[in-house]
Amino acid sequence: MSPEAFDVVDLIRTKRDGGVLATPEIDWLVDAYTRGYVADEQMSAMTMAIFLNGMERREIRDLTLAMIASGERLDFSGLSKRTTDKHSTGGVGDKITLPLAPLVASFGVAVPQLSGRGLGHTGGTLDKLESIPGWRATLSNEEFMAQLEDSGAVICAAGSGLAPADGKLYALRDITGTVEAIPLIASSIMSKKIAEGTAALVLDVKFGSGAFMQDPARSRELAETMVALGRDAGVATRALLTNMNVPLGLAIGNANEVRESVEVLAGGGPADVRELTVALAREMLELAGVADADVEGALDDGRAMDAWNTMIRAQGGDPEAALPTPRETHAVLAERDGILVAQAALPFGIAAWRLGAGRARKEDPVVHSAGIDLHKKPGDAVRAGEPLFTLGAEDAARFDRALEALEGAYRIGDEGEPVETGGPLIAGRIG
Ligand code: URA
Repeated sequence: MSPEAFDVVDLIRTKRDGGVLATPEIDWLVDAYTRGYVADEQMSAMTMAIFLNGMERREIRDLTLAMIASGERLDFSGLSKRTTDKHSTGGVGDKITLPLAPLVASFGVAVPQLSGRGLGHTGGTLDKLESIPGWRATLSNEEFMAQLEDSGAVICAAGSGLAPADGKLYALRDITGTVEAIPLIASSIMSKKIAEGTAALVLDVKFGSGAFMQDPARSRELAETMVALGRDAGVATRALLTNMNVPLGLAIGNANEVRESVEVLAGGGPADVRELTVALAREMLELAGVADADVEGALDDGRAMDAWNTMIRAQGGDPEAALPTPRETHAVLAERDGILVAQAALPFGIAAWRLGAGRARKEDPVVHSAGIDLHKKPGDAVRAGEPLFTLGAEDAARFDRALEALEGAYRIGDEGEPVETGGPLIAGRIG
């Protein structure tokens, strides 16, 4: 497209004044920004105008398609298996992809999970898996396709070839306060998932203190927007709205989250992690045409664990190897008898991050052994002196800042007091 086809300042003014951009204008804008004809400062003004004034459904669809067109599209038509994938908007202790991908693959479908690394207080799936000695996140296209055909489940790094416009735009939004705009989030997530080429997609859209969209009504709107985008692009798409007011499971970190995922694959693990894994697996399998799958049976009889072992070995990992444990630990004890009535996700996510489990900049390493092990969940009875949770780090100097983040984040109340969980784990289903 010609650099002069449109005047970017006119387009910014249109959006600033609450107007609507036409399809060729959006196509040009995304292409011109990707090629560098439109400068970062101009695109920041545009993203702020979108943040403030929103976009119509048609504009969001055009934006998504333009971002897909900026890069390559994968094609799974040569596979003998149907493809089904899931995407989570991210939360504290959210390790669900780890048990979910092999569980679903154990029913003979392919799960092409192209994942990212964590930034801020939510962990990244690749960071967690890299706790496993030998496991590697990067696969060639040939390795990726062969593993999908053989074992069905692949969790690996998304190459930079998928929706490169989104990569550039997301980095800009991150530093201009424009991440939390529904048209921008929906187009960002769906452009990558549609370009990835999956035939079916289940979205885990979170709300609550540990989610980046806190308000349930806004997360519903986000979910509806993404489901519509997926369907328009021919991807069978569904969403679950899930509660992220309290951490998911008992482990927050990297290696400890792998350990917990393996417990779930062995038929155990915390009830909430199992519940969400099973619910998402059922949706993914249904969309892939596998009706009435005995999902819980596959966790309990070892089929899902076999698929996990195959998946980890295929990427060089040793599923039997010991996972790293922190050099230093610090247990926080209950000061009184009672019921744990509050455990806010966000502060626990920030604390784990400060212990070294997360990164502040894209190029930082994560400390695989660092994190938090919870010993109690909201609603549990506690006795004075019992451990509520344990912090783990390589360096004890990190504990003070983590404990600062946790001030006021949990509370022991009296029997009969309402427990502040913000409702059930699975709050709704769209599509
Ligand atoms: N994840 C994405 O990939 N994009 C967003 O905009 C937000 C979360």
